[in-house]
Amino acid sequence: MNQQFFSTLYQSSAIIANLFGRKRKFMNLGYIGSSTTEIKIADSKDAHHISLYMKMLDMVPGIHENAKDIRVIEFGCGRGGGCYVLKNYYHIQNITAVDLSSANIKLASKFVPNVKFISADAVEFNTEDKFDLVLNLESSHRYSSRLAFFKKIASMMNEDSWFVFGDLIRKHELEKVEKMFQESRLKIIKTETANDEVVKSINQNSPKQYPLVTMFPFLFPKRIHSFFVTIHSRAYSKLKSKDTFYNLYLLKKV
Ligand SMILES: C[S@@+](CC[C@H](N)C(=O)[O-])C[C@H]1O[C@@H](n2cnc3c(N)ncnc32)[C@H](O)[C@@H]1O
Repeated sequence: MNQQFFSTLYQSSAIIANLFGRKRKFMNLGYIGSSTTEIKIADSKDAHHISLYMKMLDMVPGIHENAKDIRVIEFGCGRGGGCYVLKNYYHIQNITAVDLSSANIKLASKFVPNVKFISADAVEFNTEDKFDLVLNLESSHRYSSRLAFFKKIASMMNEDSWFVFGDLIRKHELEKVEKMFQESRLKIIKTETANDEVVKSINQNSPKQYPLVTMFPFLFPKRIHSFFVTIHSRAYSKLKSKDTFYNLYLLKKV
């Protein structure tokens, strides 16, 4: 029920963005903290979103030296922001990207050319192809089964492949999620908890991005606050109090 509600919201907000010619290609909560790679001046309004992708991608050893020819797949690519980062900051060309929302895929194809964009459910998606790097940022908490998704990811990896994963995980579910990695034959190589930097980004950016919902919170249902993760949402309070973690993982197949 919740899952259906949020899928409909993703789809309808992308249809509206398509209709009004909106240019926003990032949908994540962003990250404000130290960063090793400089963000281009032209991208400064998206710096917090790009920093979150970079924080996750920079966990992959040697990514700045040997990434040019690798095959990458991203699940939950949204409007193509991650693919933009892969192309423009890591010079990766061979990219496949999947999202459930066909309207997001339409926007992504406009924003980031020469990427193989596919509209599909990440949990149902099937391919015989193998990838050197698999990406999944801030999307899996909406999936019908994280375990089925992780098992699918493992089947697309070779022993040298990397899986970088970032998402909100409730404190009481953390152990369960980390067990799911094990069950899927995925080994955690590195973990980072990014709550403080993500909360900082929400504080700075959410009121600018959603002025009406922020100024008149009582006019909007809780689920709308939760969808946008506004400063009035439970999701925000839980990130702040660390009842929910924003964790980034680097994983390998075992
Ligand atoms: C918060 S957005 C993040 C998008 C992107 N990773 C970014 O950082 O800009 C979550 C995305 O996950 C997608 N999504 C939700 N459920 C999905 C599913 N079952 N399969 C594939 N994508 C899904 C939504 O359509 C949405 O585009």
